[in-house]
Amino acid sequence: MTEPLVVKLGGSVVDRLSSAWWDDAAAVAADRPIVIVHGWSAPVAALQGERRREPVMLLSQTGYRSRLTDAAVLDDIRTVSARVRDDIAAHLARRAVDARTVDASVARLIHARVIPQRWWVDGKLEHLDNLVGPVEHVDGAAVIALLAGVGALVVTPLATSAEHPTVNTDADRAAAHLATALGAAEMVFVTDVHGVLVDGATVRELSPSDLPGLRGQLTGGMRKKVQAVTSALGRGLHGAAIGRAPISELLAGLAGTRVRSDA
Ligand SMILES: Nc1ncnc2c1ncn2[C@@H]1O[C@H](COP(=O)(O)OP(=O)(O)OP(=O)(O)O)[C@@H](O)[C@H]1O
Ligand SMILES: [Mg+2]
Repeated sequence: MTEPLVVKLGGSVVDRLSSAWWDDAAAVAADRPIVIVHGWSAPVAALQGERRREPVMLLSQTGYRSRLTDAAVLDDIRTVSARVRDDIAAHLARRAVDARTVDASVARLIHARVIPQRWWVDGKLEHLDNLVGPVEHVDGAAVIALLAGVGALVVTPLATSAEHPTVNTDADRAAAHLATALGAAEMVFVTDVHGVLVDGATVRELSPSDLPGLRGQLTGGMRKKVQAVTSALGRGLHGAAIGRAPISELLAGLAGTRVRSDA
């Protein structure tokens, strides 16, 4: 099989991509299998708004901030993700690309570790089941098996852990782990901005040695993405493109920011 291409599709854009974007994705998938890992932040926030639920922010004993993932939040993520997976598969099916859809926690593709820690609740440190943790391992062989006979695999990056059947994990890091588990040299992140912005302009290329100089410019979701890529550089990834453009343009370096190893 030709090496699969892993594409992380931000929940920030998944509902807003043009017909031309999907035509290009289908053309890429005709050449090599693609694995689309989707995010969910914007659609989950919209659903929680409808359900009038505020996200609960937590502070751990070590000063780490996290949004509480409890059973209700996991349920929201699953509800949104089932719809997002089906939408992505439908866009591809209309362009003659067969896509299989999967929740990675159910298929046991992504394994994460929930680190037991205490969190500040009403001025006291308490143990809480915050069902979120870093990715430890991706079963690359199982991903390849699911790609058999289809042109695309659409993955919800929920994970499974030793103690819990389903846990939340960072979608960017999960996508990067998935790419390196497949031995990929390149991957693509499609998001809602044209690339990594520094002083208001899209940077064409970035490597780990540039990062200390960018402190404060990279925040929120973009910082997570760049961190996911730079840690994957240590696992065999050569580079990744980040931007809002057709996959083929991002791969060819015609759009977006390319994050790559220092020469
Ligand atoms: N220097 C920067 N350059 C570009 N975007 C930045 C920068 N710093 C912070 N950001 C923010 O990062 C956001 C992209 O990350 P975000 O997590 O929102 O999207 P996503 O990862 O594509 O979606 P999801 O999290 O749902 O998968 C941008 O919309 C922007 O607000
Ligand atoms: Mg994000």
